[in-house]
Amino acid sequence: MAALCNTLRDEGFQVSGAKSGEEALALLRSEPFDLVLVDLMMPQMDGIAFLQEALKVDPFLVGIVMTGHASIPTAVEAMRTGAIDYVVKPFKLSLLLPVLERALAVRGLRLKNAELEKQVGQRTAELEQLNKDLDAFCHSVSHDLQTPLRTISGFSEILRGHHGEALSPEAFRLVGLIQRGAAEMSQLINDLLGFSRLGRQAPAMRKVDLGRLCREVFEDLAGERRGRRVELRVQTLPRAQGDPALLRIVFANLLSNAIKYTRSRQPALIEVGAAGPAAGPGPVYFVRDNGVGFDMQHAAKLFEVFQRLHHTHEFEGTGVGLATARRIIERHGGRIWAEAAPESGATFFFTLPAIEG
Ligand SMILES: Nc1ncnc2c1ncn2[C@@H]1O[C@H](COP(=O)(O)OP(=O)(O)OP(=O)(O)O)[C@@H](O)[C@H]1O
Ligand SMILES: [Mg+2]
Repeated sequence: MAALCNTLRDEGFQVSGAKSGEEALALLRSEPFDLVLVDLMMPQMDGIAFLQEALKVDPFLVGIVMTGHASIPTAVEAMRTGAIDYVVKPFKLSLLLPVLERALAVRGLRLKNAELEKQVGQRTAELEQLNKDLDAFCHSVSHDLQTPLRTISGFSEILRGHHGEALSPEAFRLVGLIQRGAAEMSQLINDLLGFSRLGRQAPAMRKVDLGRLCREVFEDLAGERRGRRVELRVQTLPRAQGDPALLRIVFANLLSNAIKYTRSRQPALIEVGAAGPAAGPGPVYFVRDNGVGFDMQHAAKLFEVFQRLHHTHEFEGTGVGLATARRIIERHGGRIWAEAAPESGATFFFTLPAIEG
């Protein structure tokens, strides 16, 4: 042991020797080491037991066992319990050095890896906190905005209702505009409130029949289709996994958009289907329409809150629908994106986590 220590010191290593497992553990606890080189056969605590204890002191420690020819199977066993290599005695320094080098490289990687994992953990926690703060902010601002807004719409209603005769026709019209603006703002705030609420609840995952869900939502949207011919074609969809209540909101937004942006089409056609395998990464679901479409240049913006490509005088809306859909799909661990061209219809794609079992 003393000879090996000296040889390694000559090679530039900082080395400490110990005459037993217990002594080595005491050393490990008192100062940090990168690597241990340990005999398999030792009185009291053998090499395997020592390594197990040593890894409890420093889980990133790299251990190499030294063994005679007879106990190579034991050395292999030692590797299973935590050693990363072994050398057979008697060995030459020229054989030991590359083993040490490799082990130290592993040590470096283990430390780096642990450091990175720690950083990722910290960043994730920070981001989660920021997201929570943002949601809380959004929620309280939306709440606080409703109160003065109620004052505006309440009093302008009184103004028109009770003091209508005292107003000139122009003043009467302007108060009407104030009322309408207040109603629009209230809608915006409500949508925003709904959106911020989504950030709080985790999806309750279960198996969902998306085809049925889709047809039900389409029925619920009868009011938005009134007086028009809108055909819905739903392919047989593979069973999906997700939160039915949340996925209903996704379909409500995608279908209501498809209905809205096909207003000029006769007949309007909406197709819902799935492409790709049910196994592996899971299918890609799509909702396609033959409506006005949009320029792909702006495709990424659509999924942000209040981002709209069409004017309110042409197509009404607040621009929260797709942001909501994206939030839900992403909370499920899926992705959502769109493909479209002006006047050539739009297709919205999304994925959901693959079904287990
Ligand atoms: N099927 C579609 N065809 C063409 N454009 C679409 C389609 N779906 C969405 N868009 C475009 O994306 C924008 C954002 O959609 P989103 O659903 O978020 O908002 P919205 O429909 O305008 O309002 P709402 O909040 O009421 O849903 C729309 O304003 C529209 O310009
Ligand atoms: Mg919409």
